Amino acid sequence: MLPKRSDFPKDFQFGAATSAYQIEGHQFGGAGLTHWDTFAATPGNVVRAEDGARACDHFHRWPQDLDLMAAAGFDTYRFSTSWARVMPEGRGAVNAEGLDFYDRLIDGMLARGLKPALTLYHWELPAPLADLGGWRNRDIADWFADYVQVVTARLGDRVWSAAPINEPWCVGWLSHFLGQHAPGLRDIRATAHAMHHVLLAHGRAIQVMRDAGMGNLGAVCNFEYAHPADDSPEAAQAAARYDAYYNQFFVSGLFKGEYPVEVLEGFAPHLPKGWQDDFATIRAPIDWLGLNYYTCKRIAPAPGPWPALAEVPGPLPKTAMGWEIYPEGLHHFLTWLARDYTGTLPLYVTENGMAAPDVLRAGAVDDTDRIAYFRAHLDQCLRAIAQGVPLQGYMAWSLLDNYEWALGYEKRFGLVHVDFETLQRTPKASYHAWAQALKG
Ligand code: FCB
Repeated sequence: MLPKRSDFPKDFQFGAATSAYQIEGHQFGGAGLTHWDTFAATPGNVVRAEDGARACDHFHRWPQDLDLMAAAGFDTYRFSTSWARVMPEGRGAVNAEGLDFYDRLIDGMLARGLKPALTLYHWELPAPLADLGGWRNRDIADWFADYVQVVTARLGDRVWSAAPINEPWCVGWLSHFLGQHAPGLRDIRATAHAMHHVLLAHGRAIQVMRDAGMGNLGAVCNFEYAHPADDSPEAAQAAARYDAYYNQFFVSGLFKGEYPVEVLEGFAPHLPKGWQDDFATIRAPIDWLGLNYYTCKRIAPAPGPWPALAEVPGPLPKTAMGWEIYPEGLHHFLTWLARDYTGTLPLYVTENGMAAPDVLRAGAVDDTDRIAYFRAHLDQCLRAIAQGVPLQGYMAWSLLDNYEWALGYEKRFGLVHVDFETLQRTPKASYHAWAQALKG
């Protein structure tokens, strides 16, 4: 059983999250090519070279999906608009069919009593902008601001909250240093540029939305607890470096107008010229911070250039992603952020959940492991709230099984099972557990 709604403060927001490319079906409705389409079409990048062309066909089946959100008793639905669906070339011409789709989707949420929590970029960069260097090109801040302007002019009057960019670390480090996500680069200079430009684009987007009169604007960052692999000072230093570029870099920029010294050790020669002058834009005041949290890592020192570290396997039970289950890490980040960065600013858990080896049997999926995962993390939320952390909501990842990026359709995170042949939706036991917790 999950903790009940009544265990949380009044007005605590419960929700579930999805993202555009992972569920919509990008081949429908006039969307332009994205760097995920080209990344997936390149051998070796994605399991079975799967892409988001059809995904869950949410583009056509969204009424049913919103019905599922509402029937479980959720308050908010965290979703994203796809840049390439709204502007197929990334700049210039607007695809009316794309904007119309999001218009209907938002009205559909409101009609069902769901609060629309909008994210404007959840990774599907239009391919023509990738051709121009994508996140490595400083101009992306202006391209993004123009796109945000178009979306907010049409939808801004009806969304409950808005965040420009999902998980800057993944946009920057995972995609440009580790090469595991599109555009699949492995280059420190590309990484430093992308990580800075993501923050600049965030700040420009906040300005645009603020000028348009929108409120409840935030940022969504992901966090991973870094355990030193052993008791040596070298392991402690390696874990501190990991923590700095993963957990501190973006919140330092957003809330302190600086980058951590441990990151500058590696990044200083590679950041774009004049980066220090951009903090006035980057620090545009926001109304809340969202945390995406899944796991912890064990970090050991390793030979080679900065950051000179390696991940080693840990002892805790793991999800189907191979990620250790470490709910205490969520408590750590909630209290650490409130203490060192955000103070009284509202916090939201904007993603948390697990991939499990779900089996559909006789029209049901008995994902008790997922229920236990949610319960353990919700308990840590309650612990942080009791200690005074201004946590105001929690959103499960994800409403539906979906396109899990480089892992294709193999890893299932949904509260609702999706058969990727028939596209049939089947609520799992975890969905029913949420409904029971929220509706009593
Ligand atoms: C997060 C992403 C989300 C999903 C989950 C499992 O990093 O924001 O799209 O892939 O991980």
